[in-house]
Amino acid sequence: MAGRAKAGPYALPAMLRDIERVLIDRERIAARVREIAAAMSADFARDTAHLPEPERDGRIVLMPVLTGSIVFVADLIRHLPHKLSLGLVAVSSYPGKSVESKGVSIRGELPGDLEGKHVVIIDDILDSGQTLDVLSRLVRERRPASVRLCVLLRKPGKAKLDVRPDYVGFDIPDEFVVGYGLDYDGFYRNHPEIVTLRPEAR
Ligand code: IMP
Ligand code: MG
Repeated sequence: MAGRAKAGPYALPAMLRDIERVLIDRERIAARVREIAAAMSADFARDTAHLPEPERDGRIVLMPVLTGSIVFVADLIRHLPHKLSLGLVAVSSYPGKSVESKGVSIRGELPGDLEGKHVVIIDDILDSGQTLDVLSRLVRERRPASVRLCVLLRKPGKAKLDVRPDYVGFDIPDEFVVGYGLDYDGFYRNHPEIVTLRPEAR
């Protein structure tokens, strides 16, 4: 048990062995999630301030992009005291030569009835910007009252497209990160911190 003492109750030793270093720890993530929720909440209040009381409720749709945003969204929504709904969306990206994707398409249908709603698209990371560019265009076609973009992480200088998120958790260097929802080959999403992987694990 002595060798495992540092692992904590959430981490599995096999997963921990693959980790190179912690970029953002749990406390910083939790504090930032609260700040984003507060900013979002203030924006929602402004969005609906002109409406009579009974019409203010139920106009917010949070649209998490599967699968990377699920941990972030699960934490975020518990700090939002609004009557809101979730509309999950799945995207497929077609990998290019490297890890960069050449194209993005939405899998299945967009969540229904976005007309007149305040939609916030939520993703784990803004990299090239393709995912959010494609999604926000599709959502706008549904005539929502507003569309905002929220990302946990952003790699500055990487976005080729003019995608400007309204809420950003952290700007990070151009390194491949996993944890808190982000994956490598489907793994490490359950790691509670945002970390880099040792070269042998990639
Ligand atoms: P974009 O469409 O190029 O902005 O890419 C966004 C998607 O790429 C994210 O939703 C992730 O799935 C993936 N991605 C980009 N960088 C990373 C990373 O450092 N770790 C894990 N996934 C990443
Ligand atoms: Mg993803």
